[in-house]
Parts: sequence; structure tokens; C-alpha cells
Amino acid sequence: MALYSEKVMDHFRNPRNVGVIEDANGIGEVGNAKCGDIMKMYLKIEDEIIQDVKFETFGCGSAIASSSMATELIKGKPVSEAMKLTNQAVAEALDGLPAYKMHCSVLAEEAIHAALEDYRSRTEKIHKPY
Ligand code: FES
Repeated sequence: MALYSEKVMDHFRNPRNVGVIEDANGIGEVGNAKCGDIMKMYLKIEDEIIQDVKFETFGCGSAIASSSMATELIKGKPVSEAMKLTNQAVAEALDGLPAYKMHCSVLAEEAIHAALEDYRSRTEKIHKPY
């Protein structure tokens, strides 16, 4: 059996939503201390809906495939739903990752949650000017 699923290879070779959103209102950056890989997520949220999402990943193939799939899973979704995204859901959508590569999908979950938290802290500041 191949080590990586067709979907992992497809999202690695042809990642979706790569890049930067200049006017993003939620940005999250996380890193894995062990492998040194870094992932950055940009969200453009309007009326609590994720209108656009882009990522930059400096990391392994599984991290790139995970970030690509994670962006596909949350695009067009409400913030509340995106908050529930787990690394398991990302790995399942990729038809699985090798056990020793599961931590790469954790990076995608963490980067999205960090970007959503950034969005929350920005909107709370707007609503509470003190
Ligand atoms: Fe570091 Fe995959 S080996 S995220």
C-alpha cells in the first residue's frame, strides 16, 4: 500500500488557497518546535462567514496537504463551525495520514484556531472600546 493517499499527493502537488490575504481580519501563525515547520493562516470574515482563506506553509508535504484541505473544509462556513475543525477531520478528508505524520494535521487545526481567535480578539476590541 502506498504511504500517502491519492488525496494527500493531490493536495501536496496542487495545494488550494495558497497565498496571503492583504486585508485579512484573522491571522494565525503556529509552529512545531520539533520539526521546525511553520504554518500561517489568513481569514477574511464577513458577517461571521469565512469568505476567503489562504495559507503559507513552510513545512513537509503532509503539512502542506493538511493546510490545503483545512482551507477547503472551512471556506464559506460560519466561524462557529470552523472552530470545531479537528485535525482528525482534516486527516480523514485526506483519506488518512501515516500515524507518524498526524502531528502535521495538528498544525492545520492550530493555525485555523489561532486565526479565528485573532479575529475574535479584533472584533471584541471593536465592540468594546475600553
Ligand atoms: Fe513538521 Fe510535518 S514534519 S509538520
